[in-house]
Amino acid sequence: MDSCTIIFGIIAFLTATLYITYKRNRGMTKIYMQEIWQTIKNVFLCQSKEQRVLAFVQKNAVRGDPQSVIDNIDKYCSQREWAMNVGDQKGLILDKIVKETNPSVLLELGTYCGYSAVRIGRLLKPGARFYTLEINPTFAAIAKQIIEFAGLKDKVRT
Ligand SMILES: C[S@@+](CC[C@H](N)C(=O)[O-])C[C@H]1O[C@@H](n2cnc3c(N)ncnc32)[C@H](O)[C@@H]1O
Repeated sequence: MDSCTIIFGIIAFLTATLYITYKRNRGMTKIYMQEIWQTIKNVFLCQSKEQRVLAFVQKNAVRGDPQSVIDNIDKYCSQREWAMNVGDQKGLILDKIVKETNPSVLLELGTYCGYSAVRIGRLLKPGARFYTLEINPTFAAIAKQIIEFAGLKDKVRT
């Protein structure tokens, strides 16, 4: 099979699945289009969405300022590419719980890019221990850099 046949096959497959998705659920079509667009970007830019989030933070946030890291992740993910962070709305509920319980030890399962870890870490009292676990090593590496950029390396263990 030559490369033209493969490319034609991929385009035909994507068009067919897009058509079926549109017919069944119009809302899903937007998500589907975003996924296709993201995959194209990942291939052509040789960069994952999570790496683009990290690059945006490094370019726009203030090093050592967790709030500016959170604000910039929220900005990127609301204006450019959706990502599975807890986000600013549920984040406010999370903030409230952390403030009310004022925990000494915390364990988070699922760090992703480190958004919630930064969000929680910035509110912890001195000496509190916070461990966050991420199963995906690529995400864990991004999170480590975001947590370090936010100045929370000593508070948040990945
Ligand atoms: C919804 S995201 C977490 C978002 C993150 N807490 C935030 O708000 O920034 C879920 C994450 O859990 C990770 N995950 C899934 N199963 C896991 C497991 N068994 N142990 C650790 N991480 C896991 C996924 O790879 C994904 O990055």
